[in-house]
Amino acid sequence: MFRRGRRLRANSAIRSLVRENSLSVDDFIYPVFVVEGKDIKREISSLKGNYHWSVDRLEELVDELNEAKIKSVILFGIPEHKDCVGSEAYNENGIVQKAIRRLRELSPELYIITDVCMCEYTDHGHCGILNDHDVNNDKTLVYLGEIALSHAKAGADMVAPSDMMDGRIAYIRNVLDENGYENLPIMSYAAKYSSAFYGPFREAAGSAPSFGDRKSYQMDPANSREAMAEIEADLNEGADIIMVKPAMSYLDIVREARDKINVPICVYNVSGEYAMVKNAGEAGLINEKLVALEMLLSMKRAGAKMIITYYALEAAKWLKEEE
Ligand code: PBG
Repeated sequence: MFRRGRRLRANSAIRSLVRENSLSVDDFIYPVFVVEGKDIKREISSLKGNYHWSVDRLEELVDELNEAKIKSVILFGIPEHKDCVGSEAYNENGIVQKAIRRLRELSPELYIITDVCMCEYTDHGHCGILNDHDVNNDKTLVYLGEIALSHAKAGADMVAPSDMMDGRIAYIRNVLDENGYENLPIMSYAAKYSSAFYGPFREAAGSAPSFGDRKSYQMDPANSREAMAEIEADLNEGADIIMVKPAMSYLDIVREARDKINVPICVYNVSGEYAMVKNAGEAGLINEKLVALEMLLSMKRAGAKMIITYYALEAAKWLKEEE
């Protein structure tokens, strides 16, 4: 006697009956990069198929999102002016704030999440305020609170702090609550690793640190218990959703979190993961569509509910083809 696993794999009907996980366009959050200037829809060379958008061209993006039935975006701003405190990040007329207002005008239903961080806005490229050569945690909190509040005032639906400062969730929650935004959720980049997979993003966002690295605030890729401690801390501080980033090389963290906690988990399928699949596909080494969908499905199987991915628009089309 042996187990005949093939009985339940015999044809597509039985395979779909026993299928445990699935991908849906409802799972996707599309990252959008907005830039100052006019009439810009410029392909990002490190993230083929993704663009820098000026605010006046966002209507085309909204049409594409509607066509693909993608309901949520996460916004990243690339300002014209950078300084040591990242002041464009909390300017009410900053690039992200303008983009939020325009998107809201174009589509009242679009769910707008914003990345709350300083690295795209500081002239030194670090995620906070420097003291000598290190980021000062508690001084940075004050700025993060300002940034999150400015996004809320512009009309964001959710804020997502990605800076990895300690205590930021409690600080931001408090600022939002004091200003009447107690119903605005916070998605915390809770377990964010100091990863080389962010390379193409830093080129896309012009946010590479001008000296040093982010190892004094982002996590060591060797650690998993520490990720649970970070996640628990952020939940205690009031995070509504927690994120694991990057996704593909960190699915063990996703699974462990899924087994331990009871809030939705988001993964960030980061730029390096996208670029590897995209470029291997273009080189004819792999079937890009099948590999991309398999990669995204693995994130669901590991326990993520939602996926931030540069593949969102394309994957939505591929899923439609499969229907
Ligand atoms: C920080 C931020 C980064 C990413 C998202 N938010 C870069 C970093 O920490 O260096 C990376 C995303 C990606 O690689 O796709 N604001």
